[in-house]
Amino acid sequence: MRISIIGFGTVGQGVADLLQRHAPLYEQRTSVPLEIASVLVRSLDRKRDITLPTSCLLTDDPEAFFAAEPDILVEVAGGIDPAHQYLTRAITSGADVVTANKSLIAKNGGQLFATAREHNRALTMEAAVAGGVPAIDLITDCLGANDITTVAGILNGTCNFILSALEVAALSGRPASYDATLAEAQRLGYAEADPTLDVSGRDSAEKLAILCAIAFGTPVNPDDIPNNGIEFITPELMAKARDERYTIKLLAIARREGDKLYVSNRPTLVGGRSRLRLVTYADMGLSVAGDAMQSAFVSGSGAGRYPTASAVVADILRVARTRANNCAHTLNRWPETTSPLRTADYLNNETRSTIIGLEHLPVLQS
Ligand code: NAP
Ligand code: HSE
Repeated sequence: MRISIIGFGTVGQGVADLLQRHAPLYEQRTSVPLEIASVLVRSLDRKRDITLPTSCLLTDDPEAFFAAEPDILVEVAGGIDPAHQYLTRAITSGADVVTANKSLIAKNGGQLFATAREHNRALTMEAAVAGGVPAIDLITDCLGANDITTVAGILNGTCNFILSALEVAALSGRPASYDATLAEAQRLGYAEADPTLDVSGRDSAEKLAILCAIAFGTPVNPDDIPNNGIEFITPELMAKARDERYTIKLLAIARREGDKLYVSNRPTLVGGRSRLRLVTYADMGLSVAGDAMQSAFVSGSGAGRYPTASAVVADILRVARTRANNCAHTLNRWPETTSPLRTADYLNNETRSTIIGLEHLPVLQS
């Protein structure tokens, strides 16, 4: 099975490395040999950590890249355009697609999945929400019997990494530099190419928007999710939270009540009984409640080269297994028909005011 990869940065190199390192294992699991046929990048001058097989074309020319005629197109480049055009081109020319691009799915998921449906092709996206932590699978497959009522998660590793460092500083009394911690998150491959997307809360809001579509059948525009970033959280504020037996986490939450979907993506005081409190550094955690399964919780490595590649490659293996029988499209997880709920701010008027101090942060106790 021929695989072509757009993007050979943090995630793309992890994917290529796993595909080469575990080739015999993956063939055993899928009964199909997987071959990396072509890789598309912006610049051929950039130094890479991972070597590609000699038979693979590494190119900055989209036409040469697509001439490799992939069975599976993997998009780990990011951004809206040209990723949108590339995915559409792949789907309409008969390839199945695996992507980690939450910005694109949050903005154009409905339209891209409709194109995939029309052409009987798979569009899978497990890595787009919570990296290596199975968030989309958990909701759509494992909890598929449930009427979901709440999803609440720590969905951005960079923010959680910074907040954990601020907490350690608050506990130890040692100073922590926000800028140095963000630079470390970038070095470790957690942050987006533009880290403002992380610290402003945007990345987490995009992931929450995707979860709203798959959990509640209600696609939500990330711009409509009440949002605050973490830029205003200081070691002093974190110390104050600790004094009150809380920690501060960037919490993405959506709760359905009747025909309303209450949503919020904000730094939140997380209390002692919540499992989300134990999710530290670049880890992510997701708590889901449904009518049959009152509580399910997953956590683990959510960002960085190999945790993200883990989810991307798992999608590749599923597509490889099912494509042979022409049923890879059954892996698609975007709702075919939607049941739009009216969205509203999760916070009430009292707590919605501009967040300036501890007393204005929302609280999660359990
Ligand atoms: P990255 O390190 O910046 O790598 C992006 C790669 O895409 C680079 O190789 C770049 O080429 C290539 N690229 C960008 N625009 C392109 C274009 N127009 N044409 C061809 N190639 C292009 O980013 P990343 O961290 O791997 O993230 C990739 C995607 O995965 C993003 O959608 C991100 O949101 C998502 N994701 C990342 C993580 C993570 O932990 N990093 C986790 C989950 C999801 P050059 O190398 O030549 O510049
Ligand atoms: N930049 C993202 C984060 C990558 O820090 O969570 C994982 O989606």
